Amino acid sequence: MSVSDLFKPLSLLHGPAMRNRFMLAPLTNQQSERDGTPSEFDQDWISQLSQGGYALITTGAATVEASGIAYGRQLGIHSDDHLPGLTQMAGAIRAGGALSAVQLHHAGHRANQGLGGIPAPASDRTLPGIDALTTEEVERIRDSFIAAAKRAEQAGFDGIAIHGAFGWILSEFMSPYLNDRTDRYGGSIENRARFTIEVIDGIRRTCGPDFQIGWRLSVERYGLQLEELREITAHILDRELIDYLDLALWDSAQIVQDGVFRGQSMLSVFTSIPRRGVRVGAAGKIMSAQRAGQLLDEGCDFVLVGRAAILQRDFPRQVQADPCYDSPRLPVTPDYLRAGGLSERFITHMWRWSNFVTPGDMHIDHR
Ligand SMILES: Cc1cc2nc3c(=O)[nH]c(=O)nc-3n(C[C@H](O)[C@H](O)[C@H](O)COP(=O)(O)O)c2cc1C
Repeated sequence: MSVSDLFKPLSLLHGPAMRNRFMLAPLTNQQSERDGTPSEFDQDWISQLSQGGYALITTGAATVEASGIAYGRQLGIHSDDHLPGLTQMAGAIRAGGALSAVQLHHAGHRANQGLGGIPAPASDRTLPGIDALTTEEVERIRDSFIAAAKRAEQAGFDGIAIHGAFGWILSEFMSPYLNDRTDRYGGSIENRARFTIEVIDGIRRTCGPDFQIGWRLSVERYGLQLEELREITAHILDRELIDYLDLALWDSAQIVQDGVFRGQSMLSVFTSIPRRGVRVGAAGKIMSAQRAGQLLDEGCDFVLVGRAAILQRDFPRQVQADPCYDSPRLPVTPDYLRAGGLSERFITHMWRWSNFVTPGDMHIDHR
């Protein structure tokens, strides 16, 4: 395959097809209003991206409950007050020709108490003095994911992406290390995956037939077991419960270090699963046209672009114009990001990421 294959359309099980193979990875940028409503900076960022040539644009992690917040100025979708701003976002993405999705997120045991978050661990052992969620509380959060998806649909988004990665609540429940429950949400891998599957099933039942469901999965840390994750992914793909799987790798070329898949590429552990009509993509250091093209050869149907999208808002268009396109080298200066159109809030957020922004005339915005 060649870089030009990245520009072939890709049908999804539900709703319209992707016009090419580029998806924007979810990128929290801490520039919403304090109640999670989209700010002028969110709208500006989305409208820049909407002109960038992506097939599908996902928002950053959006809170499905106010108490599930992880970050200051995180995007929210937990109340109807968020609808007008979200509707504007969805409209801008559609006008630019891309499909749209909101990433649905709950921080679980890592909810930030300083921001009104209420830690919601799967187990009594995770946080000293904090009880595990009761079964009814798990059901309530499940229903909040489903209600948030309905809200995304009302706002005009083509779908949602369920955040099942990085130890946040759904990933936490999947982990035998963080989940020692004895109710139907703990114990066997089937039970630990039940929260995720009930969220997916509930969204499918509640939203229209064209509504698209993505699921983001990460495979490292938090006691996650690769063999189990592969098994549950095989089940989800076999039942065609989702439209696309997004493998959240930090490096798409990562090699498995131990266990039965030792020595294989992490990607191949998942691309080798029969996927029926479900599409599979991956994120992780996709910073050049060539690397994006290679991932199709390695079995991906599409690629997710994260940091390269922050460096250059129109990564897909750059690739289309130049099959040898390479992202600017990291780190970049705050002025480079400013000149590209990033807000001060976003630049401040990027300051936390190692080796992204050079020190220097860093302006810290405390608004
Ligand atoms: C600034 C920034 C914000 C991110 N926010 C989110 C997020 O809200 N949800 C999520 O699932 N991943 C998030 N990630 C992870 C990215 O989606 C992506 O998986 C990761 O950065 C690897 O891709 P890359 O190497 O292209 O950046 C974030 C990454 C960055 C750099």
